[in-house]
Amino acid sequence: MSRHEPFTFQSAPELLQKADELGVELPFQDSVSPLFESLVIGSKTLANRLAVQPMEGFDADTDGSPSELTFRRYRRYAEGGCSLIWFEATSVVTEGRSNPHQLMLHPRNLDSFKRIVEEIRRLAQKVFGSAYEVFLVLQLTHSGRYSQPEGKPLRQVAGFNPNLDRGPKDVRILSDDELDRLQDKYVEVATLVEQAGFDAVDIKACHGYLVNELLAARTREGSRYGETFENRIRFLSEVVEKVRDRTSGLCLAVRLSAFDGIPGGFGVSGENHENFDLAEPNELVRRLVQFNCSLFNITIGNPYEKPHLGRPFDRPLQGAPFPEEHPLEGITRLLRITSAFQKEFPDVPFVGTGYSWLRHFFPNVGAAVLQRREASLIGLGRSSFAYPDAPKDLMSSGALDPSKVCISCSRCTELMRNGHESGCVMKDKEIYSKLYQKLSIKGKENEEKHD
Ligand SMILES: Cc1cc2nc3c(=O)[nH]c(=O)nc-3n(C[C@H](O)[C@H](O)[C@H](O)COP(=O)(O)O)c2cc1C
Repeated sequence: MSRHEPFTFQSAPELLQKADELGVELPFQDSVSPLFESLVIGSKTLANRLAVQPMEGFDADTDGSPSELTFRRYRRYAEGGCSLIWFEATSVVTEGRSNPHQLMLHPRNLDSFKRIVEEIRRLAQKVFGSAYEVFLVLQLTHSGRYSQPEGKPLRQVAGFNPNLDRGPKDVRILSDDELDRLQDKYVEVATLVEQAGFDAVDIKACHGYLVNELLAARTREGSRYGETFENRIRFLSEVVEKVRDRTSGLCLAVRLSAFDGIPGGFGVSGENHENFDLAEPNELVRRLVQFNCSLFNITIGNPYEKPHLGRPFDRPLQGAPFPEEHPLEGITRLLRITSAFQKEFPDVPFVGTGYSWLRHFFPNVGAAVLQRREASLIGLGRSSFAYPDAPKDLMSSGALDPSKVCISCSRCTELMRNGHESGCVMKDKEIYSKLYQKLSIKGKENEEKHD
């Protein structure tokens, strides 16, 4: 492990020299043409290999419908040119919402989801031509330990975890009956996802939320959902199997944290939780593929505990410590893990994560990853908040505008953690820098109160 450093690279040789010094292998090539190779998923042909990653905006109406601000975010993505747009975490039940403004899909607001799907498709075709096909995935979730349906914690978990919870009374352990009912809910909402016109549904299994937590529920005793590998993967695999049986044209997708990086987590080595062991995640993916899961998005880490694992940054959240590793170590870990899956399952598309810190060099790294067949799509998270037009600029001029790229400052997460609408404070100033100013003023007022 090396010292954390911010991004300072003016040229590709400087970036590659740093990777050499750190002893990590950073794929890199000058030609970005692999980003513009087509890819077939299900019945669609995607024109390029760039994907918008799911990014919660905390801006839905209280009934879970996309608001005008939600529409604005997705319009920007549609016009930006990523051929796959992975819609953000959308709750299947009220009590599992991460906040009162998380998207939630139910029969009463189905029409509002239909509208956003239609608008995104129409806009993408208006900009990129009538033959252009944008692939839309909706991510379904229950926020589990991190639920805040009314703006304060309502921690519902697979099991008490002394590393994550203040005490046993801090959390409510969901019973097997409740989990059975929740499975039904996932299946019901997945049928709505199909009716709304999405191409795929993602059963979110990442970042410490409920379905991800269940994968590591080794201490959940006497339950059909705990202890053994078969039991721990039961919730996810049965949901996927049931959704397959209840839908017809919908592709099945899973965003998976392949390595939690915390003691007792999924994909961690028994000897040292800082190291990954992909034996169980690999077997899980194998089973999911058997249930017709045809798209995966690989991520790692629990952002509440170790945000640097899944989203390497220059600046941590205010007051949080800097990680004891260089962001390039984090990025190359993500690349290695994704590559291991793509190599094991060469016919299944895997979306790679963690490119935003690379700024205007992400296309070169992404292109090299694709060239080596170490992922099928390059996912862009914070970069999509900051610079949704990046694909369009790449198409027209072959390069990005360095003044528009994400600077991985964590302010989008700060907005979110403080219950505000989330977006890029630095590059989408019209909306989000004003919100951030309010936050700073509130922070100062609170500091003064403490004095
Ligand atoms: C503000 C914010 C919201 C996010 N919301 C989601 C989400 O809804 N679902 C999800 O799977 N990941 C979510 N993520 C994680 C991103 O999809 C992505 O994995 C992460 O930012 C790393 O990719 P990047 O380096 O391109 O930003 C979120 C991240 C941020 C910063």
